[in-house]
Amino acid sequence: MYRVVTIDGPAGAGKSTVARLLAERLGWRFLDTGAMYRVVTLAALREETDLEDADALERLATGLDAAFPPGQALLAGEDVSKAIRDVAVTRASRFIANCAAVRERLVAWQRAFAEAADVVTEGRDQGTIVFPDAPHKFFVTATEEERARRRLAELLAKGDETTFEVVLADQQARDARDASRAIAPMRPADDAETIDTTGMTIEEVVDLLLRKVLPPS
Ligand code: C5P
Repeated sequence: MYRVVTIDGPAGAGKSTVARLLAERLGWRFLDTGAMYRVVTLAALREETDLEDADALERLATGLDAAFPPGQALLAGEDVSKAIRDVAVTRASRFIANCAAVRERLVAWQRAFAEAADVVTEGRDQGTIVFPDAPHKFFVTATEEERARRRLAELLAKGDETTFEVVLADQQARDARDASRAIAPMRPADDAETIDTTGMTIEEVVDLLLRKVLPPS
């Protein structure tokens, strides 16, 4: 049995960065499940798939040529790591996240990763649905203002023109949808530990999680 650490939480909580660094420190694989939903979304936008047509989305996900080597997302061999972070993809991702058939495929994919290696995995449903037996589950969050500030800094750094108000409004809409959807809603697993990272640096969060996963003997 390989080991699994799950990190779930709302948008902009720093889950991906924390999960990636924690995986590096542990020497485990990092699984960015948001990137999987984003790659399907990007493919759907490029192919102009009807985002409300569940059968069409299922066909698209079934035939998808995607791969996730460490730190990258590939779509038909093309590195789409940047493209999947576009605001248009972020906004449209809810259609993909709401599609049961697509979720089923992505969940199977996620479990397959954990059959081949120890993983630190991040998303919305990792502790609740995908890995209910994981021994270490965290729900990483921060105040919505802090999360929006972090996201704004990221977007400005990559040259997007946006404002705090727009980022905050998008984030609130996405969190509300993620938390209220019928399938796999975002919520802490009953046995997850909530980590409020407000005011903490990424390194502090990673150190804290590392101590919890591998307590110093
Ligand atoms: O985490 P990230 O912002 O990359 O996720 C993009 C979207 O994918 C989320 O807003 C959510 O709707 C969906 N998602 C999900 N389940 C996951 C990971 C992401 O529904 N495990």
